[in-house]
Amino acid sequence: MNNDCTDPILEIVTSRQRALVLNDICAVVCSLATVAVDGSPRVRVMNLNGISGRSFELHCSEQSGKWKELVQSPAYELLLWWPSVARQYRIRGELEIMPQSLVQQSWLRAPYSFKLLDRFYEEYQPLGSQLQNQQVLLSAINSLKTKYPSEQDVPPPKHLRGIYCKANWIEALYIDNLRIHERHCYSYTDHHWRHELLVP
Ligand SMILES: Cc1cc2nc3c(=O)[nH]c(=O)nc-3n(C[C@H](O)[C@H](O)[C@H](O)COP(=O)(O)O)c2cc1C
Repeated sequence: MNNDCTDPILEIVTSRQRALVLNDICAVVCSLATVAVDGSPRVRVMNLNGISGRSFELHCSEQSGKWKELVQSPAYELLLWWPSVARQYRIRGELEIMPQSLVQQSWLRAPYSFKLLDRFYEEYQPLGSQLQNQQVLLSAINSLKTKYPSEQDVPPPKHLRGIYCKANWIEALYIDNLRIHERHCYSYTDHHWRHELLVP
């Protein structure tokens, strides 16, 4: 790692491209930690839909626990861990809500099975509600397949939401061939990233 690298986002995008070339399945996801209404922590894996500017784009349902938590408290930490390139990034910052038109556009690219599950939340039972048994879900999905036989027939759900995790603090941990870590901390102030090297 080069200490002159002052744009951690560029570094993240480059590392991610390398990880994707190496078929690192972790490169398509991230872990998002939030604070629950009672102040306790929550963490879950999510698809990392894109990185642009300082923003990391994620999608969820407004029925989900994470959405309710973020509405209550926009505090979060995003964790990226890409084993193929031996990189960990921890990201904090502001939270921005994606315009609904963009959320719907990206939903159009989702696989058919995901779209049907989104319809299930809307037409049968909300996400996270108690399911009598797995067969109830599978039968409903079959009915939805009959109702919407092709991907283009599936109407976009109203409950889908998109968020931008806009970074203003990033900690990068690099592991070199000798397994000695390098720890870099970046904070964004006055339109610039400031860099500090920390004891790993
Ligand atoms: C590989 C993978 C990708 C996932 N992607 C998403 C996602 O993009 N959005 C989402 O809401 N949940 C996603 N999930 C499910 C979440 O991890 C979680 O189980 C679910 O959203 C409920 O979390 P919550 O109750 O904290 O909101 C994904 C899970 C896995 C294992």
